[in-house]
Order: sequence, then structure tokens, then C-alpha cells
Amino acid sequence: MANGSFGLDNEALIIKSGIRNVFTPHIPIDEISHFFGREDEATRLVSVINSPGQHILLYGDRGVGKTSLAKTTCKLILHKLQRGHFFEKRCDSGDSFSSIFVEALEKCGIDLSFREATQTHNQGGGAVLNAVFAKADLSTKRETKTTIVTTFKPDSPSWVAKHLKSLSGIMLIDEADALQDESDKKKIAELIKLLSDHKSNFKLVVVGIAATGEELTAGHPSVERCLKEVSLQRMCDEDLKKIILNGMNSLNLRPDDSVVEKIVDISAGYPHFTHLISLKCGEAAIVRGNKHITKDVLKSALNEAVKDSEGALQRMLESTLRVLNTPQEYKFLLLTASYCNTPEFRSSELREKLKSKFGVIVDSQTLSRRLTKLTKGSEKTILYKPARGCFQFTDPRMPSFLKMALNADDDVM
Ligand SMILES: Nc1ncnc2c1ncn2[C@@H]1O[C@H](COP(=O)(O)OP(=O)(O)O)[C@@H](O)[C@H]1O
Ligand SMILES: [Mg+2]
Repeated sequence: MANGSFGLDNEALIIKSGIRNVFTPHIPIDEISHFFGREDEATRLVSVINSPGQHILLYGDRGVGKTSLAKTTCKLILHKLQRGHFFEKRCDSGDSFSSIFVEALEKCGIDLSFREATQTHNQGGGAVLNAVFAKADLSTKRETKTTIVTTFKPDSPSWVAKHLKSLSGIMLIDEADALQDESDKKKIAELIKLLSDHKSNFKLVVVGIAATGEELTAGHPSVERCLKEVSLQRMCDEDLKKIILNGMNSLNLRPDDSVVEKIVDISAGYPHFTHLISLKCGEAAIVRGNKHITKDVLKSALNEAVKDSEGALQRMLESTLRVLNTPQEYKFLLLTASYCNTPEFRSSELREKLKSKFGVIVDSQTLSRRLTKLTKGSEKTILYKPARGCFQFTDPRMPSFLKMALNADDDVM
């Protein structure tokens, strides 16, 4: 083959190692053996789902681990505590209230694809046959046909509640923020209220990206009593460390302590990055045939991790730097900003960080001017100003991405 083996040999080694089932940056966890931390939140989910009339609303930033927590906990409850069905609906912009419950309604014997049914009235034999499901007896004397329009009302919360209330189980409505119409979110809230009034054993777990629970229920007033909100924050460093060490151990890989610390630091509470960087480190070690993961291995892994990162983050950094005259200086500034711990930072804090971390001194006016420049543009900008004198990354995952992209960039460090 002119171009070598297209990396097939390396791929074969990686697949054989099983590392892609251990570090899964793009797939939520759904089994307890790969699930770490989140004890308090999982305990709360278990207790709410097992309390009559109570349902769950789980919200937080993208990538903090919402789907993993919801899926792992629901499956555990259905395995250990109660029997019942598990339904999962991942919403997208084409969904509405009526498309969410199709599968659950099907379990109740309602097939929404049959909107009409033709009935044949056999006057001779007196039998009434549904033409959709049964064959008519052709030997009969006189037949009349009537088309019945069925009274399916899948967009009515009370109709859906009437049918679902007798089911037992849990329905996970994921990415509820993707629903475009606020009235669909309100209808989910209404359905929850009705299921709760009926003391139904059919529980809803609504999950979505939001800063407040209200965003996902469109501020429905009377649902608060039966819909318990759980806000999921970033993971703590100790739990991120558990993800790395348990995964590496199970593969017999030996990362240096400094590598583990660096992965935790870059992750900044987002398990997605922990999985991504650990995966790339592990893959590099497996291909080299050396189980020891050093800082050099980490450095090349960061390059690979950047290539495998979400396009939106890459595009935002590229489009920001492309229009600047001195991109190198801005890269440095952004990297330092990603080390400011609070979500929002002041330029004085950044000045301090530049001095203490890199020994660089910049006057405050120049720094403020540069930061403000990063909040201006026709497209979505990398920073915005939440309040006067304060700056914040538009995408909360950007600091982790910058640390990966720029730590691996020799020109900056
Ligand atoms: N508790 C956890 N333990 C281990 N890995 C986790 C945990 N929570 C999330 N992850 C990992 O983090 C990444 C993002 O998780 P996910 O549940 O998809 O986040 P979200 O739904 O908030 O976007 C996935 O790769 C998942 O495997
Ligand atoms: Mg998710």
C-alpha cells in the first residue's frame, strides 16, 4: 500500500486493549462500575424517584455529566429497587410534546401511526370487524363501511397522563433544552403535575442544559411541589482523579503523578475532558508498547485531544485569533484567563495571574482594552461582559480547551 497501512496496525492494538470501553469522552456512562463520584446527587435522585408523586428536573452545563448521572441512577433503581420500564427520549429541535411519548404510549397499546380505522359492519352476521387488524368474512350478505377517526390526542397532557398513569417505570427526557417551543416545556410540566395527582408509578426525569430549572419548565407555576430540581455542578478534582486512576489501573497503564495532576487541572471539573485526555494518553502508550505515561506522552496526547474536540470550540478559537494583529499575545492572555478560577474574572485578577504565573507585567489600561476587544465582533465572541469590569468565557468549556490547545502549542509556552 503506497501510504502505509493507514494506521490499521495501531488501531488493531488499541481495539484489542479495550481502552475505548474504559475512557468514553463522547458516550454517557450507564453502568455503576464506570461511574464515579456524585454520591449526594445520586442519593437525591433515588430518594425523589421513590417518593410518591415526585419527579426530577436535572440541569447544568453541557458536559458536566447530567446524562450519565440520570441513566446510571435510573437503571440502578429499576434493577435493585423496583421493576418497571425504562424509556429514554433524547430531544432535538424537531421534537414537540407529542413526539416525546410515542414509545411509552406504544407500551400502553396505543400506536400513534394509526390515525384512522375502517370498520366493516356485517349486517348479516352482525360481527363488527376492524379492517386494520382483521380480514372481513366475504361470504356475508351486506356490508357497510365506516371510517372512524380515532381520538388520539398526543399533544394534550391530560390525554397522555390518562394513558401513562398506570405504567410503572421511569422515562428520561434528555436534552429538553432543545425543544424550541416554550409551550411544549409547559406541557411536560403539566403532565408531571397530572401524574403526580394520580400518584402514578410512572416517573419523569427531565434533563437539560440550563442555568436555572425554570428555563426547562418554562416557569410553570404549580409544578414546583412535585418536580424536584437538582442542579449538577462540575465534578470535584478528587472524583476526576478516580476516573483517571481506576481506568488506567484496569488497563495496566502507569501515568506519572504529574500527568494525573495535569489532566485534572485541564479538566476543570468537566469529566468529558478527563476521559478525552486519558484516552489519548492511553492510546499513545499502547501504540508505543510502553505502559508508562510521561509528560512527553501527555504532550502529544493533548495534540490528538484537540483534534478530537468539538468543532464549535475549535472554530471559536480560530475565528477569534484570525482577526487579531498579534494573535500570539492574545493566545497568552487567553491561556492565563483560563487559569482564573471563578467563572467571571476582572482584569485586575488577570493582571495578577500574568505576573505570578508567568512573570509578565502588563499595564491595566492595555489589558482592559485587549479583553474588551475579545468581547466585540459580529459572531459569537470568545469572551463576554456579564457586568461592568467583569469578563467571562462564552462557553464554560473553553478554559479546558485552551489549556489543551495552548499547552500543546510550543510557541506559547
Ligand atoms: N460520574 C461519572 N463518572 C465517570 N465519567 C463520567 C461521569 N459523569 C460523566 N462522565 C463522562 O463525562 C462525559 C460527559 O458526560 P455526559 O453525561 O454526557 O454529560 P452531559 O449530559 O452533562 O453533557 C462522558 O464522557 C461521560 O462518560
Ligand atoms: Mg447529556
